[in-house]
Order: sequence, then structure tokens, then C-alpha cells
Amino acid sequence: MCGIFGCIVKDGNAAPVIHAALKRLEYRGYDSVGEATLHESSLHIKKDQGKIDEVHKIHNLDDLPGNIGIGHTRWATHGAPLQVNAHPHLDCDGQIAIVHNGIIENFSELKQELENLGHVFKSKTDTEVIVHLIEHVWKTKPSLSLADAVLEAVKRLEGSYAIAVISPKEPNKIVCARYESPLVVGVNENAVYCASDIPAFLPLTNKAVIINDGELVILSPQGYEIRKIADSSLVTREPKILDWTPEMAVKQGYPHFMLKEIHEQPATLRNTLRLQEHYLDLMTTFLDRAHEVFLVACGTSYHACLAASYMFSKLAFLATYPIIASEFMEQHGKSVNIDSTILAVSQSGETADTLAAVNCARQRAATILGLTNVIGSTLTRISRVYIGQQSGPEIGVAATKTFTSQLSVLSQLALRLAKKRGKISQDEMDFLAEKMENLPDVVDEIIQTQEEKVKQIAKKYKDAKTFFFLGRGISTATAYEGRLKLMEIAYVPAIAFPAGESKHGPISLIEPGFPVVFICPKDDTHKTLIGNIMEMKARGASIIAIMEEGDEEIKKLADDYVEIPKGVPEVLSPIPYIIPLQLLAYYMAIERGHNPDTPRNLAKSVTVK
Ligand code: G6P
Repeated sequence: MCGIFGCIVKDGNAAPVIHAALKRLEYRGYDSVGEATLHESSLHIKKDQGKIDEVHKIHNLDDLPGNIGIGHTRWATHGAPLQVNAHPHLDCDGQIAIVHNGIIENFSELKQELENLGHVFKSKTDTEVIVHLIEHVWKTKPSLSLADAVLEAVKRLEGSYAIAVISPKEPNKIVCARYESPLVVGVNENAVYCASDIPAFLPLTNKAVIINDGELVILSPQGYEIRKIADSSLVTREPKILDWTPEMAVKQGYPHFMLKEIHEQPATLRNTLRLQEHYLDLMTTFLDRAHEVFLVACGTSYHACLAASYMFSKLAFLATYPIIASEFMEQHGKSVNIDSTILAVSQSGETADTLAAVNCARQRAATILGLTNVIGSTLTRISRVYIGQQSGPEIGVAATKTFTSQLSVLSQLALRLAKKRGKISQDEMDFLAEKMENLPDVVDEIIQTQEEKVKQIAKKYKDAKTFFFLGRGISTATAYEGRLKLMEIAYVPAIAFPAGESKHGPISLIEPGFPVVFICPKDDTHKTLIGNIMEMKARGASIIAIMEEGDEEIKKLADDYVEIPKGVPEVLSPIPYIIPLQLLAYYMAIERGHNPDTPRNLAKSVTVK
């Protein structure tokens, strides 16, 4: 995700300090970089697409004048990774500069409103609306301070933001504000800093002030002042002394990226609910017109497609075909044609097998739709319509937060398609939309209440030679994904099947103590699944159930269980039910002495066929 930084230094220039801080934010992932400083009543800006070192080579990021400035590493969400979309962004008069991390949901409406007022936009970003909004407020009420203008402007924003704003009209200040995107302030005797993340300033100071949602901060050579956005009241908060090493800071105190990313899911799911309506609508239109839809992907993304095929069928009555990308050409290469639609799902947007399948379909004039986490990736360039899933960069090799975001986007598409096709009542629609909104909290609750339990289960089964993962209906996809996680991270051979199929072969492996994980939400498959649990239990298997809270029937049969809050609709169930299985894989890896972030022989993005 984007990284922001700002500083006011007492001696010397801000630019080299910003440059070095942005380098320390590189691990967050980015595609463009930029800096703005204030000197002698004017703004000085340099920005471009590319890595910091490349941009520095061309533009020299260190020679901007002045002791105050802001910087940004951009990870594209709205608008391709181009120079014009790189931050900082300016208002019409070049008197206000802003850097931003987050997603502004209502940016289309605001942009329209501001354009009607005569504002001219240069970029395709959501960020640019914020700076024009500040300009508008300030011009309408010139007596306001920069901080007050920012405060009024951010009240109009829906979505998430951490921003830093400077203006030559108030040359000794940086104004920052935060809602649902991280923001920290650092202080020492020589300078004051703001950043998305502590690693940005950790070598310079270990004194940090965490800024909360709904707060605005004014940095000045004297230090910092925090105010509440709602009523402008002052907040007193002393800096904390950090004892983090740079490595700990990058992982935000978590021992591994995988665990950090599992814990990030409530936040990433919230972001995924902030997609622009018109992209969802456009893709829905294409899906609605399609004669046949192939959902094409590899690895974890394929499991998201498998779950999606149940969602599209159950909600929108649309049959779709989930296909492993490397098999697509062999299986469908000859039959795919102008009437076919391919929805390719790829976190990286660069997986060679997925792109090969897409290219094969393109040559045969099929319509290509893309779902990816990386705007600007090859998949976005070859898709007729694409959606960015907004999970932020994932560093752990095993996909975790990107899987649940993919599921969230796909369920939103299925729901829209159901509405478009008249397959769902308004009540059902509202009910599911509300449940979807609630999912980040459900996932949060699972992590808060069940993590310790999963840890104990991992301890108990750490020496198991094999695992089974079984589920019925949409939970088959959850079972496959749970198995993949355990296999790739903890190196435990594991088998996953639709539970109904287990008696046609796999059951012969069962002997006393064999761990079998059942994914058992209380949906239409619940009764039949209990029969499958009994079959396994009768042969001595140890049953580990991922079940709904208070499900007494399952509890009686299970040797170990993890509880998921009640009331999750069937079509959304893979999102919360996969969380304990991600944690299980993680803690099994730890128990068995493996580093979950870098599993042997695997790569995050596989660019060979
Ligand atoms: C690799 C990764 C997996 C990922 C798969 C597909 O195998 O290790 O985690 O699911 O590629 O990647 P994609 O970027 O296309 O989703």
C-alpha cells in the first residue's frame, strides 16, 4: 500500500531525509514515488513512476530546497502507475500539496461537484479530490487556517485516508489527518516527522505518537498538536518510547509477515468493500451478457474461483466453470470463442499460466475480465474490464489476505448480478449486503477469540503425518484452500475432498488418530455433513471441526473445534471459515520449525509455465 512521510527539520534540507525515509517504506510495495518541499513561498515537486532509485537517478530527489516537505510511495488503486498519477497532488493554483494513503469511496461524486465549480483535475486518482476540496473550503472561507480548511474538507470524505498537506501560505506547517489508514508521528530535538509506518523514521527517533482514527495533527518546528476532527477539540498524547529493531518495525511487531497479513484481514476486507460501484456494475454487465463464463486462475486464486462458482450459481443462477489456468488450453482451447467470457483471477496479475490461458482466449476473440491486486500488471493491460481488489501488497508467499479479498469482490459481483437478473428480492439483497458489511468485524472476532485455540490444536497435531480437509458445497473450496495452506507452509502432506466423495476412496486411509478437518457451517449441507463426520469417527479419525458457535451436534462429535460467529450466510462462509485454517497452517509451520514467510521451492509470483 502507499506510504506517506513528512518532516520539518531544524537544520538542513528536508529532501534527503524524505528520500531516505521513503526507501525505508519500500517494503510496503509501490510503483511510483514523489516529494514536495516548501522554500521561499513556493512549492517544489518531483515525482515519477518507477522505483525510488530509478526516479532518483533521473530527477535527483535530494536537491529540492527547504527544511519542510512531504513524500510518497504510491501503490496504484485508482489510475495507472504513471507520472501524472504519482503523488504529491496539487490544487488548481499550485498552492496546496498533498500525499495520501487510502481509498476515497465517494471520490466520483466529489470530483463531479468540484468540476462543476470549475476545478480542473490532472490525474485519475481519488487523492486529487482531497486537495481540490481543501482548496475549495479555503477559498470559500479565506480566514480559516490551513488546519481548519483540512479539517472541514476531510469531513466530506467517505473511505479511508492518512494525508499530509503543505502550503506556502502557511510555510511552517504540515497538516495530517487520519481515518482507517495508519499514521504515526515521530519526534526528536532536531525534527518532527509523520509517516504511514514507524520504520520510516525509526533510525532517526524512537519516540513515536500513534494517531487515532478521526484525528488531525499539526506539525510545526515546535512539535505536534493533535485535534479531533469531529469537534476540533485538543487531544493530549505523549510520545511512546519504542524498543523495536528495524526488522520488527517492518513487521509491525509480528514475528512473520504471514501472521501480520492474517491479522490485517479485517482492514483489507473493509478496503475491498470500498470498490468503485461503476467498475462492479460494468463487470456485472459483461457477466450478464456472457454465454459461458470461465473462472481461470492458479493456486489460492483458483480456490477463490471455485467458491465463486457456487456464489454465481446460488445467487445469480449463472453457471460458471472454474478452471485451473494451466489446464485451460488443453481443456477448452478449441471450444472457447467470441461468445465466451473469461474472468481471470490473479493476485499478482503476472502468473504465466493465467496469462497464457487469457492470451489463448483473446486470440479466439473471447471477452477478458480481470480481478487482480496489482493495478498496472499485465492482467490489467489485457483485460476489457478489471477490478483491483485493494488488499495492499502481500509479502508472505502464502496468499492469505488476498484470498479473502478476492472472495469479497467475487461475492459482491455475484450479488450485483443476482440483482440485475432479478433473481433476488430486495430484502435478501439488503440482508446479504448488510452481512457483507459486517464480515470484517466477524473476521476480527475470530482472530481475537479463536487464535489461541488454533495454536493449541497445532501443538496437539504437530507430528501428524497427513491431514484430511473435508467440506460440502461451497465449503469444498474452503477445504481445498485449508489443505493448500497447510501443505505449502508446514510441509504436511494433506488431502482435500468434497466430503461426499470421501467414501469413494480417501476413507481407506483412515486409521485411529488420523486428523480430519471438517468445515461445517450451518447451511443446507449440515445434516449430510454430520453423516460424513460419523463415517470418519467410526473409523477412529480425530475430528477437528470449524463450526458455527454453539453448534452442539458437531461439538459432541468433534475432538477439537474452532467456533465461527453465528449468522454468516452460506455464500459468504468461506471468508470467515478460512481464517482458522490460515492460522492452523501458520502455527503448524512454527511448531515444526519452518519459516512460514519463505516456504521452500515456492515463489510469490510464478512467471514461468
Ligand atoms: C503462486 C503463489 C500462490 C498463488 C499462485 C497464483 O503459486 O505461491 O500463493 O496463489 O501463485 O498467483 P496469482 O498471483 O496468480 O494469484
